[in-house]
Order: sequence, then structure tokens, then C-alpha cells
Amino acid sequence: MSKIAVYPGSFDPITNGHLDIIERSSKIFDKVIVGVLENPEKKNPLFSVSERVELIKRVTEKFDNVEVESFKGLLIDFMKKKESKIIIKGLRAVSDFEYEFQMALMNNKLDSNIETLFMMTSSQYSYLSSSSVKQVAMYGGCLKGLVPDEITQDIIKKFSKKQG
Ligand code: PNS
Repeated sequence: MSKIAVYPGSFDPITNGHLDIIERSSKIFDKVIVGVLENPEKKNPLFSVSERVELIKRVTEKFDNVEVESFKGLLIDFMKKKESKIIIKGLRAVSDFEYEFQMALMNNKLDSNIETLFMMTSSQYSYLSSSSVKQVAMYGGCLKGLVPDEITQDIIKKFSKKQG
């Protein structure tokens, strides 16, 4: 039986920290599906869901066993559709733990077949988040090493459009 893992998130935008988790999990599982949440509660996203999917596809092109898709609603329903029982989450610091623990328990309560596996972030990315990337970009800071090079210009362009 092939092992399919789902790596869910908002990815607005994908960072090098996310990409590191995708690459490492692609070496462990037969297939990794990056699930981009279409979340109507999150007001003013930088990128639309389809743009985020396109950016992630671009930077994960080199991994044969990685797929990218958006989903709406409950993660466990998306997991069922994709025939996966494993959620991958990255943990950066103790501060992530409480929220992630709560989500893992809730998902397991909703479907007891679902397991959440946590992967510790690589130390060089432990400070990195999509929100901090957006702040740096908004004020014209250097994005080198924070996001994949292939998408840097897309982020810069978004902010110049917003400000222009
Ligand atoms: O990158 P994020 O915003 O921390 O990702 C959060 C995400 C997408 C993993 C989480 O919000 C999610 O799974 N949302 C779908 C709704 C759901 O299934 N909720 C029940 C678990 S609390």
C-alpha cells in the first residue's frame, strides 16, 4: 500500500521553511500532496489560492512525487478524497506546539484513522513565517534565503501593485 501524506497550510506565500518540509517528507512518503486551504475567513490574502497553487507547483516541479491542490472545508474530508491518513506539519518552536497539538487532536477526534506527524523545522528556518516574509517584502527588505528564488519577483510585484 502506498503511503500518501498531506501537507496542509495557507502558504501565503510558500517560504523556504515550507519547501524544506516538502523536500524532506517527499523522501519519506511515496507521495506528498500539498493542500492549500481556501479560507474565506482570512481577509486580504497577498496571493489568491490559484496563484499560491501555481507558485508552489513552480518550486516543487523538481520533486516527482509532490502534487499541489487547493481544498475547501475540513482537512479530513480532503484527506479522504486523496486516500491519505497522514498529515505532515512543521514545528518551528515551542510556541507552535499548543495550536498544532489542538489541531492534531481535533482532526483525530473527527477521524480516528488520521495521524498527524510533526517534523522539526531545519534550524536555519526556525524564525521564518509567511507573515514575516510579507513584512520584509512590504518595506522593501531583501528576500534572499527566505523564499525560493523563483518566486521572489512575484512577491515584489504584488507589493508594488498594492502600493502603486
Ligand atoms: O498555514 P496555516 O494557516 O497554519 O494552516 C492551517 C490549516 C490549513 C492546516 C488549518 O487551518 C486547517 O486544516 N484548516 C481546515 C479546516 C479544518 O479542517 N479544521 C479542523 C481542524 S482544527
